[in-house]
Amino acid sequence: MLDHNTVARFEALDTPFYYYDLELLQKTLASCKVASDKYGFHVHYAFKANFNERVLKAIQQIGFGADCVSGNEVKKAIEIGFDPGKVVFAGVGKSDREIIEGLENDIYCFNVESVQELGIINDLAAKRGKTARVAIRINPNVDAHTHHYITTGLEENKFGVNQWELKTCVEELRKSSNLQLIGIHFHIGSQITNLDIFKSLCVKANELSQWFEEHGFQLQILNVGGGFGVDYYNPDESPVNDFESYFEIFNKFLERKPNQEVHFELGRALVAQCGNLISRILYVKNGLKKNFLILDAGMTELMRPALYQAYHKIQNLSADKNAETVKYDVVGPICESTDWLGKEVELPLSKRGDLVVLRTAGAYGQVMASGYNLRDIVRSEYSS
Ligand code: LLP
Repeated sequence: MLDHNTVARFEALDTPFYYYDLELLQKTLASCKVASDKYGFHVHYAFKANFNERVLKAIQQIGFGADCVSGNEVKKAIEIGFDPGKVVFAGVGKSDREIIEGLENDIYCFNVESVQELGIINDLAAKRGKTARVAIRINPNVDAHTHHYITTGLEENKFGVNQWELKTCVEELRKSSNLQLIGIHFHIGSQITNLDIFKSLCVKANELSQWFEEHGFQLQILNVGGGFGVDYYNPDESPVNDFESYFEIFNKFLERKPNQEVHFELGRALVAQCGNLISRILYVKNGLKKNFLILDAGMTELMRPALYQAYHKIQNLSADKNAETVKYDVVGPICESTDWLGKEVELPLSKRGDLVVLRTAGAYGQVMASGYNLRDIVRSEYSS
């Protein structure tokens, strides 16, 4: 929690850093677990959202699996203690080395994104006398109505197998004796807040699952991916997502055969709210048209505003709450005009040295940090 004692502790620390509220993380995980268990759904955490070790450990301990998109994520999952039988490996560009590592670790499933990849996994598995479990990631052509940079389920996107390629896919599977098709997989995009979009995904998934049955494949799993969005505007009013409503949609609209499992790959919805970027004001620059707060954190620590024009709530933790407010453009120290964190942000009159927080930064925040301008890679602090 960002209470008085926590902020007092921050005063003694070098900035910038990511602050993780582990209590809030536990609450979020517990709420997701209860809501998914209600329907017997399986959750795999999308590692790419945040691979901080304490965050990962908490997720492993609650019993979720791991959704990985690189060989290093697979390795990390196993190091942290995730059961390889709960590790899935997706991604359009898996290298031979990464596939071999997945095979050697006997991971649960490869989510395969092209017909060509099926052939490669089959060959690599055959050479090692193994059978690889695979799920076909299908591009369902469902519009996620989110920022176009984080939409993945349209035919113009590079992800998954298009529906017109499914016949070729099935032919490839029939001649691949070292592959076992266990399911189909979808992921239409991220930061989806309109639950009706998931309804459309269910309708499409039902059609496609039926198509596979008709072609003689019994699917053990339907993997509907992740994408559940969070409320970036009201971090205090909705600190934990409404997982009940989210899972209820799938329970209602996704048709399951007896014994068929439903898998989810949630990233953002599990870790966004527990993470905050803490920074200090270096300079206050008053211009004719704009006033700037120049922070010691920028796009190198939190890339989302520069890349997706994303909103993160910004608060001054040191200023007197009753002070007059001023509109500031909050920017970082990097030599790029896209290096901004908030535009026209209304804040109490601020000064050099004040602590500033960027809220809801736990997902796709620290993991996307870079060392551009030879900056130190941002570190983490935790709730006590
Ligand atoms: N499964 C697959 C196959 C994915 O590609 C992703 C995210 C997820 C699951 C998890 O999605 P989530 O539940 O977190 O929405 N950097 C962007 C988001 C990129 C998402 C990439 N894929 C951002 O900062 O908004």
